[in-house]
Amino acid sequence: MTYKIALVPGDGIGPEVTFAAVDVLKAVSEKFGCSFEFNEYPAGGCALDKYGVPLPQETIDGCLASDSVMLGAVGGPKWDSVPADKRPEKALLGLRKVLGLYTNLRPAAIQPALADACVLRPDIAARGFDLMIVRELTGGIYFGERGRNEAGDVAYDTETYSVMEIERVARRAFDAARKRRGHVTSIDKANVLESSRLWRETVHRLGETEYPDVRLDDMLVDNAAMQIIRDPSFFDVIVTSNMFGDILSDEASQVTGSIGLLASASLGESSRGMYEPIHGSAPDISGKDLANPIAAILSAAMMLRYSFDLAEEADAIEKAVSDVLSDGLRTADIKSPGQEDWIKGSEMKEAILDKLRRN
Ligand code: IPM
Ligand code: MG
Repeated sequence: MTYKIALVPGDGIGPEVTFAAVDVLKAVSEKFGCSFEFNEYPAGGCALDKYGVPLPQETIDGCLASDSVMLGAVGGPKWDSVPADKRPEKALLGLRKVLGLYTNLRPAAIQPALADACVLRPDIAARGFDLMIVRELTGGIYFGERGRNEAGDVAYDTETYSVMEIERVARRAFDAARKRRGHVTSIDKANVLESSRLWRETVHRLGETEYPDVRLDDMLVDNAAMQIIRDPSFFDVIVTSNMFGDILSDEASQVTGSIGLLASASLGESSRGMYEPIHGSAPDISGKDLANPIAAILSAAMMLRYSFDLAEEADAIEKAVSDVLSDGLRTADIKSPGQEDWIKGSEMKEAILDKLRRN
């Protein structure tokens, strides 16, 4: 079977890291005999420049006709002043919506070899942490009704959630917890927001009826933001709304000290997912071979695992990455303070390819 992969490299460092991940997948296919077909599609600022829209129909059709999508990053200061409906971010939001990707998995774990990159106090970092944020991705305030009054001096955005939307993402979180340490923390603002009260009720009903074996607790989002820094080892799986998940996942990733290492998966009902590094387009380092390709490479591993059920191949990529890190190889973003012998993005990719071929 040949897996059809839509590549949406996007802007900034998106193309560099996406094509590094493609090279890794090619090496995987040589080693294990699986076969991939790659087709590239424009989205984001580059699509706006070329076609006048951030998400051309051709890209939507191409993604829908693929078994999975690999996205780099979209956006950059160049497009900061374009009208709201043309912003590069619209491409990302549009793809999530049309592909029905209502669940976003964002793992954040401390890599033992990189404990010194962790920004937490050493005694907290020493406890280690490995958490999975399950973020709702196609609802809430991102997609709710918004607008301005006629005078333009009052604006509103609305947070709306239905039981169906909450249940389907919560189910993903409970399922993930069963394969991990059996603990879900649902994060909301139920002391203020009605939508959060419905969120909390719904998650509890589902937990009691379908997942009595999973430990479930709630946390208010402000407290959660604090606990992620105070004691991230408390968390196993976090489930939360679109906006809270957006904010907390940036926080959790930075707490690991290495946002350049973190991958993500966006999933819906079918096996087709969209996989992307958590970091953005980083226009300041684009084209300088400074970008760390690891997050994109680990995103490709997630694709093999979640969309194609190729666990052995995914394991091999993850092992190659942890091996190069254990060997002490560091790109600029993860070097120790004062470290001089850091390597370029392309060298990191080559080192990973080398491990993959030899392991
Ligand atoms: C993310 C990003 C996006 C989001 C932006 C680029 C629209 O911050 O994937 O977390 O807010 O979802
Ligand atoms: Mg974000």
